[in-house]
Amino acid sequence: MSSPKKLSPPEIVARQLEDFYELRRQIVKILTPLNSYAEPSAAEYRELLDALQENLGEMEDAARQLHQFYRDAEDRLERVLKASSSVWTRPTGLKPAKIPQFTPIANRPTAPGGGKTRIVSFINLKGGVGKTTLTANLVAAFASGNFRDLDGRANRPARVLVVDLDFQGTLSQRCAEPLVLQGAYQKGLTATKLLDTRAEAKVAFDELTVPFLGLPNARLIPADESLDDKDVRRLNELASRRLETRFYHRIWFHKPEIFEKYDFIFFDCPPRLTASSVGALVASDSVFMPTAPESFDVNAVNRTMNWLGKTRKNLNLSVQFGGAILNRTNNEKGLTPLEEKNKNRIKLTCDDYRSFFEESREASARSAVLDAFVPRRSGANYINGTDGGALPGATLPCFHRLATEIYRRICQ
Ligand SMILES: Nc1ncnc2c1ncn2[C@@H]1O[C@H](COP(=O)(O)OP(=O)(O)OP(=O)(O)O)[C@@H](O)[C@H]1O
Ligand SMILES: [Mg+2]
Repeated sequence: MSSPKKLSPPEIVARQLEDFYELRRQIVKILTPLNSYAEPSAAEYRELLDALQENLGEMEDAARQLHQFYRDAEDRLERVLKASSSVWTRPTGLKPAKIPQFTPIANRPTAPGGGKTRIVSFINLKGGVGKTTLTANLVAAFASGNFRDLDGRANRPARVLVVDLDFQGTLSQRCAEPLVLQGAYQKGLTATKLLDTRAEAKVAFDELTVPFLGLPNARLIPADESLDDKDVRRLNELASRRLETRFYHRIWFHKPEIFEKYDFIFFDCPPRLTASSVGALVASDSVFMPTAPESFDVNAVNRTMNWLGKTRKNLNLSVQFGGAILNRTNNEKGLTPLEEKNKNRIKLTCDDYRSFFEESREASARSAVLDAFVPRRSGANYINGTDGGALPGATLPCFHRLATEIYRRICQ
């Protein structure tokens, strides 16, 4: 005879709950007014009470097992996350001659605005800190010329490309026209293709871009759920040392014809380590980290900086740390004393890792946290001051200040 299947803690709890509901049904039946003329006997009460007590004891036991089960699961998850982050940061096995080249800024052809293209990633391993909101608004500020040049003069609208690297596609859904987006999804012309170099030979880069709502100078590479699957496959290939999967974005973006087309390329990264977020970092000149000005966000800053620093060092990347950006502050005009305190903690945390970035003297003299910040707005879902897409010129002054400070940091 086969032995009964061993139940998992969640199954045990489900079973206990079934028993509990059955008991409850019996009690309700006895106590409903229809049956109340038949007063239950003391023996019946006692029997029910005993059954209830037994059920309660078993449920407590099951709850303890469930608690332990989840703690074990959390430990396992933590180990998996640690293992996967070390996969991303480990040195490449490729010979130097085989590593796809990073074109130094000085060697790039002239971009439409007369300068050189800058590639920037917005990263924080914590979700919901405002990466997408800030990236979209910065696209709008740069593409509508709402930023100042190094001499403080008004700038011309810049040509901007933004790449959605989160399979949830928040940026795509907010900043592209739904029908156009649907078309791109149906044809598979999305950021998923960027994790495929064979696609590079078959798909023209421009086919991957769609218009950014309301901004004639900006374009967007959208993302959809297919990116999740591809990201995981690329992780497995790298982990099993079958394929070096971290240089694809460099291959796609470091091309003269792309540099000639865009002044700025922004990557909106997911709150996870994925083939896409690592790829963005490998292709970028600078990385900025949106964060909330709250004490419990310092841990995420620490984790993100640690990962950024290690990846940079182990892969010998050129990427510079642009700085942390405070989002969702309480006031428009300035920071509260508590926010100032947290800003300082964030700054000290970032400073611990800045040696990884081999900064120039000018860069290391700058604060690790930008002066410009973004206040919390009541309409929670705002992109560019609206609920939906971006409208030229509709950006809020806080984003003009932020764009100007970012421009100084990446172009000086
Ligand atoms: N300054 C702000 N004021 C009010 N709401 C904001 C602000 N910044 C972001 N939000 C809101 O907070 C939510 C999360 O923002 P967003 O999607 O930009 O974060 P994220 O870091 O990109 O998240 P994820 O990690 O999931 O990609 C959104 O609903 C957004 O509208
Ligand atoms: Mg996002």
